[in-house]
Amino acid sequence: MKKLIAFSGLLAIACTAFSQSDKAKALVAKMTQEEKVNLVVGMGMNLPGKNEPVAMVGQTMDKVEGAAGTTFAIPSLQLPNTVVADGPAGLRISPTRKTDRRTYYATAWPVATLLASSWDVQMVEQVGRAMGNEVKEYGVDVILGPGLNIHRNPLGGRNFEYYAEDPLVAGKMTVAMVNGVQSNGVGTSIKHFALNNAETNRNASNSIISERAAREIYLKPFQIAVKEAKPWTVMSSYNYINGTYASESYELLTTILRKEWGFKGLVMSDWFGGKDAVAQMKAGNDLLMPGTPDQKKAISDALNNKTLDIKVVDENAARIVDYILGTPAFKNYAFSNAPDLKAHAALARTAAANGMVLLKNDNSTLPLAIKNVAVFGNTSYDFVSGGTGSGDVNEEYTVTLVEGLIKGGYTPDAALLEKYTSYISGEKAKQPKKNFFEEFMNPTPRIPELQLDDAMLHAKAASADMAIFTIGRNAGEGSDRKVENDFNLKPAEADLLNRISAAFHAQYKKVVVIINAGGVIETASWRDKADAILLAWQPGMEAGNAVADVLSGKVNPSGKLASTFPVKYEDDVTVKNFPGKQYPEKAIKGMLGMPLVPTEVTYEEGIYVGYRYYNTFNVKPAYEFGYGLSYTSFKYSNIKISSPVMNKAITITADITNTGKLAGREVAQLYITAPAGKLDKPAAELKGFAKTALLQPGQTEKVSFIITANDLASFNTATTSWVADAGSHTAKLGASSLKIQQTVTFKLAKEVVTEKCNKVLVPLVNINELHK
Ligand code: BGC
Repeated sequence: MKKLIAFSGLLAIACTAFSQSDKAKALVAKMTQEEKVNLVVGMGMNLPGKNEPVAMVGQTMDKVEGAAGTTFAIPSLQLPNTVVADGPAGLRISPTRKTDRRTYYATAWPVATLLASSWDVQMVEQVGRAMGNEVKEYGVDVILGPGLNIHRNPLGGRNFEYYAEDPLVAGKMTVAMVNGVQSNGVGTSIKHFALNNAETNRNASNSIISERAAREIYLKPFQIAVKEAKPWTVMSSYNYINGTYASESYELLTTILRKEWGFKGLVMSDWFGGKDAVAQMKAGNDLLMPGTPDQKKAISDALNNKTLDIKVVDENAARIVDYILGTPAFKNYAFSNAPDLKAHAALARTAAANGMVLLKNDNSTLPLAIKNVAVFGNTSYDFVSGGTGSGDVNEEYTVTLVEGLIKGGYTPDAALLEKYTSYISGEKAKQPKKNFFEEFMNPTPRIPELQLDDAMLHAKAASADMAIFTIGRNAGEGSDRKVENDFNLKPAEADLLNRISAAFHAQYKKVVVIINAGGVIETASWRDKADAILLAWQPGMEAGNAVADVLSGKVNPSGKLASTFPVKYEDDVTVKNFPGKQYPEKAIKGMLGMPLVPTEVTYEEGIYVGYRYYNTFNVKPAYEFGYGLSYTSFKYSNIKISSPVMNKAITITADITNTGKLAGREVAQLYITAPAGKLDKPAAELKGFAKTALLQPGQTEKVSFIITANDLASFNTATTSWVADAGSHTAKLGASSLKIQQTVTFKLAKEVVTEKCNKVLVPLVNINELHK
């Protein structure tokens, strides 16, 4: 029988605050006030200034070049510096150093959107193990990831760093990743806690949200992660939540995170986040990163004039000491600086193919039955491995699509190869050289799409067996994506695709489109131009090899969408509240002179995010949550339930049979529709998922789900508790959120209060929340 995936375990909590270990307390007791203050503020970083050698934002040069930050050492107490480095898609450190001639490349893994689309928690844990090995072997103590903010809106600039629009998927992926990384004895920092769902004015943006939506959608993945995986650290986010900076919110960092959820690790701020160091200390934001002299002064002054109790700093410091005591740095781990990058590249390739999503495949266009391909689109020759900013990785290479095809035994058209490569290298040579900070402030646009005339397209349609066209997108920290020329195709791309499609279809030859993007794009207006569409996401450094594996059929695609692809951007429920209402007239100067523009984002959609909205309000998406095709087909049958009435838990099982001709894997998704009760509920919500092993044609696997009252509970604001409604619940096992294959009902005899919480994070204004 298939392994059980039980999505329970968030049971009622004891409201005891975390107390630090005796050893940590004893060490703190030996510290001077100055040492304590030093410890709660990081070692800082060099920032670019006039006439100074330009140092990088996001990098400290102390122990591991290119790492994001370092904590303070107290040698008299045998407490070393520890090093933290980004990020979610792999370790971000400098690939070379001035001090030697070695290289320090790290593996660029597939981005989080791809990993989540695999729905394969075992595989994600395996990626985590390998990622964590690089962290350890490069002398780093904590990796600043994974990112688990919800994909609230398709334009979120950092969505590629985050998993999904659904809290269960995001939570379970995080658990797998944290367990994998931390199995090495290094830490993770789950981020950004919380409600950091847009990049626009991220340091001055107020997320205005109801308690229910906050708890059910945005805090939930963090809750799952804290309860089930014990991350060493949590990173608080830049934004305000209902008027208070996340990093200054006692309610968020102490009442919810520590008292309700029992988090025992340390909280660090996002880099230069928040503004009141004393408030941050009081909130339980133990460590201020990367750390500034002003923060030290503010804390010292407050201690001296008694507006800050030393006990608060003692607690914060003790949590930092507890963390340090667990680090490889403290244990004097002799790191090799030589992780097995070859083995990791092989795993990155497998993982990448596992999370790609086949969106369309008319008349079995794929797997490819031909060898001669005309490959179009700049991105085919300049593939995007991952996003920009702190979520970037300094990898040694990225296999392009065309390279992957060649290695896979295909013959891309040589003249096109020559034309595109010389065009791209010429255009790249014209681009200004920028450091990390300059690129962050002013991202270099992607090279304009090379235009080809109709005569050329007709000639290629005559000589090649098929056309492949890649659409490429990139985004990253600091700004959100745009609708025009990004979410939507650029006019030049649409025009080229139209003409490729016309030329090839005129000769009865097929067109395959590859989407190489970290997030959602528009597909409905152009998908009829393509016979097949493969969503390759940003698949990491082995990109082209992994795409070729799927195109060739070496790997049967088994990814499914963990975020909805709407027909058009305007269909999304969050559009009128994204990226929020901006007040430029109230702007002040922030870090490095960057303007801080007050912004308000009202989460008027409430709990109706992603498929919870589309499927409840019957807005048809281009591709729904949970959607993804395979080269084979599956039959669902024999759904069974352990009991028609839920006592403590029920088990639901069903058989999945491969009814096609090729081996393949299926992702079965369990949605539950609640009975009509006191609270508004989405049409159905995901409560469990299981990915089968590779099933041979004719082979059957039994999938199994354990459901408890806890999984059925919604947050009742009036009573500040999680409640599972009495009545008849319908469990729907589907191949996607709209392709339900089998249903079964069960009853909960009485209402169950699964958790009583504190009245916190209360919005200060009325929210005109969406209801059914
Ligand atoms: C980002 C974090 C990152 C940190 C350190 C910040 O700008 O928001 O995600 O971990 O920098 O580089």
